[in-house]
Formats: sequence, C-alpha cells, structure tokens
Amino acid sequence: QGSADLVIVANRLPVDRVTLSDGSRRWRRSPGGLVSALEPVMRSNDGAWIGWTGVADDETDPFVDDGLWLVPVPLSAGEIEEFYEGFSNATLWPLYHDVVAKPEFHREWWDAYVRVNRRFAEKAAEIAAKDAMVWVHDYQLQLVPQMLRELRPDLRIGFFLHIPFPPTELFGQMPWRRQILEGLLGADVVGFQLSGAAQNFVRLVRQRVGHKTHRDMVYLPDGRTVQAMAFPISIDTDGFEELARSESVTERAAQIRSALGDPELVLLGIDRLDYTKGIYPRLRAWSELVADGDFSVKDSVFVQVATPSRERVEQYRILRDDIDRLVGRINGDLGRLGSPAIAYMHSSFPRHEMAALYRAADIMVVTPFRDGMNLVAKEYVACRYDNDGALVLSEFAGAANELRQAWLINPYDINGMKDAIVEAARAEPKEITRRMKAMRKQVRENDVASWANRFLEELEAARPSHSKKL
Ligand code: G6P
Repeated sequence: QGSADLVIVANRLPVDRVTLSDGSRRWRRSPGGLVSALEPVMRSNDGAWIGWTGVADDETDPFVDDGLWLVPVPLSAGEIEEFYEGFSNATLWPLYHDVVAKPEFHREWWDAYVRVNRRFAEKAAEIAAKDAMVWVHDYQLQLVPQMLRELRPDLRIGFFLHIPFPPTELFGQMPWRRQILEGLLGADVVGFQLSGAAQNFVRLVRQRVGHKTHRDMVYLPDGRTVQAMAFPISIDTDGFEELARSESVTERAAQIRSALGDPELVLLGIDRLDYTKGIYPRLRAWSELVADGDFSVKDSVFVQVATPSRERVEQYRILRDDIDRLVGRINGDLGRLGSPAIAYMHSSFPRHEMAALYRAADIMVVTPFRDGMNLVAKEYVACRYDNDGALVLSEFAGAANELRQAWLINPYDINGMKDAIVEAARAEPKEITRRMKAMRKQVRENDVASWANRFLEELEAARPSHSKKL
C-alpha cells in the first residue's frame, strides 16, 4: 500500500521517452486525446500517473515531473508487439471503431493483454493509499479494474473508455467478450463518451454475463453495484483560447498564411494518421472540388497534418502509403508551381503550432468514420475567439453530439461532404458567427476540468460507505 490518494492508470505516461539524432534521450509529450485531456486535471490534483514510457524495457524509476508523480510500467519488445500493437491496436481498436478495418483475433495477443493488464493492476495496488481513488483509462486496460479490486478491495475504482464502445452485435465477435465485460465490472463507475455506448455496455452485461441491470445500474451477485454513464470528454478551453490570443501564436498564424501564398481560403485537417479518421475521402472530396472548378489552387489550399501513429501496425502502413499516393496524385494533377492543392505534413506539432494552424484556418474539416469524441474539433472552436471560422464535422464523431452547429456530414457520402465544404466556404459572415458562437459557448461551459470533476464526483458518490462489506 502506497501514499497516492488519486491514481491515474493509462497505457501511456503523459510524456514519452524519445531518442534524438545525437543519441541523447529526452521526454516529450505523448500523442493523442487521452493525454491532452488528463494532463491539466492531474497537474492540479497532485496525483500519481502510472503508464508506459513508449519504449521497450524502460526500467526508469518513478519520478516527479512538474508536480506530477510519474510511475513507469515496463513493457518488453514482445509485449509491445502483442499487447500494444497486437491486441490493443489490431484487435480492440478496429473492433470498437465499427470494424472500419478488420480486427484480428490471436490467442497469444490475448495472453499478453492479460499479463500486461495484471502488471498495471499490481503497480496501482502498490502505490495507491488506503481508500484512494484509482481512475483507469481506455481500451488497453479493460481488465485492470477487476484485477485491482481483487488486490485492493478498499479502493474506489473508476474506468473511462475514450473510444467508442461497439454495438452488441460487433462486440459479440470478441472471443474473450465475457472476460472483458467482467474486467470492466471491477470498477464502481464505468464511463463512456456517449450514452449510447453506456447502454450498449449495460445490455451486453445483461446478455452475456447475466447480471441484473436497471437503467444505468448493474447489480452484481455480491451486492456491489456498477454504474455505467456518459461523460463526454473535453479540452482545456481557457488554456487554448489564451494560447490562441498570444502574440506569438498570432504572429505565427500570419506567417503560416503568408508561407501558403496568402490564399483567400485555408482549409485544415489535423489527425493522427489513422484509418478511422476518414482522411482519404476528405482529400478526395477536396480534389474533386478543385477539379470541378469550385475552388482554385491559386486562391485556396487544403493543409493536412497527419501525425505519425502506430507505424509498425500493418493497417497503418497501408494507410500511409495510400495517403502518400493520393496526395501525390492530387498535387500532380491539380497543383501549380508554388500552389499545391494540398499542403501535406506527416509530422507532429507542439500545442503552440497547432493553435497557430487553427488560427490560420478558415475551415476546419474533421471527417472520421468513427471517433470516440475528437478533441481537435473542440480545440479549433476554442481558438476562434473572434467567432469566425467554420467547422465541417462528421456525425460519427462523439463531438457531433455537442457541436450541433457545425456543418455535419457523413464521411461515406463524398457528394454530401463536397456540398458542406462549399456551403461553409460561401456562408455569410453572420451565419458563421452564429454557429461559432453557439459552439464556443458549449466548449466553454463543458471543459476538461468539468469533465474530470463530474467523473470523480460520481466515483466519490458511487459507494457512500464504500467497502461496506469489509
Ligand atoms: C487515442 C486513444 C489513446 C491513445 C492515443 C494515441 O486517443 O484513445 O488511448 O493513447 O489515441 O495512440 P497511441 O497508440 O500512440 O497511444
């Protein structure tokens, strides 16, 4: 038993170990929505954070970074392959995202998943203080709640899934579906992005595990209850707005526009290079608009940032090749000297540069086939403090539930996407302002701090005299 009163357990630490070209090693902020969302919350809570450093066999001791206890969990090269690239990202990720790619089921991967989940649970059991709250995150660690409860029944355990939870028919494909449901049921509160996901979970628990349920409650045979609810995640809205208003971001945004040749219209996409993000149909839609003459490369450009991700997983390599080829073809066919149709960057940028890109873009285009939330859409809104800028957003992103005033599109419908882009580009300033104002109100009133507080309050209330049975 340790001394931390609030413990975050996530596959990744908020910082990654990177090796620079001169061989020296540094810490760098980890990719993805989970880290962006939790970091500000934890910094203000003096919590401990358990996670992997992003490299193999890293035996770094726990250390303090900016007021935050970071507790590394080592993964071997084999475990990275089977637990992280395999079961997490080639089985669960595609299965939970509507099988946009075909999930692979391998028994060795599952064994590694169980083994690594146990290691995270043991580490949490070791550092959590008596009666502490432990908050477990995301699809990589779904077995941790149950494993941890067995080791430490005194703890309050919460789980939050950052990605979609699939419809019951798709989840049914999972050979270890019962174990996963039972793993999650170790938590007192199981949180999802959307209420539909929470309902899928409760229905599955009833069907596949046979527990009694009522609305968002699951009743376990031992008298414990588990609550399944929606907690739509958000961003550090004020932090982004402040950054966007800063002189250096303002200057950088102007530089970006001038580097692009001061076009009238800048469209922007920023995504991890992931097949769920709908990058391919989005760029096709844009290329058709240019080819049709709706836009010209002289006056407009599409800036696409694709952040490298999971590069050793086959589906991600295939996607990278597909996008490289598509961008090359589009620019070859439609670009002019100094005026490409698409300005494409395969790289990751710090927050400052992201904010400058958001400031520089007239239209943000977010078109995932399926996305738990999509924080990029919210970040764009947070940065548009002049109430200008248009958001084109897939209805299959969780964010579409809240950002109703975006131009909502179906990424499978290329013509619909083209129409929405044209409409957004031709909209009256008054219309743009009306929409942006409403969306800004939404992200201001629901930021990441309120998300975390709501979850933690729910967890606190979940078992008023918790460990009643001890
Ligand atoms: C999504 C997931 C996170 C994950 C992130 C980056 O946001 O919900 O759990 O950390 O992508 O992916 P990676 O595989 O690099 O951790």
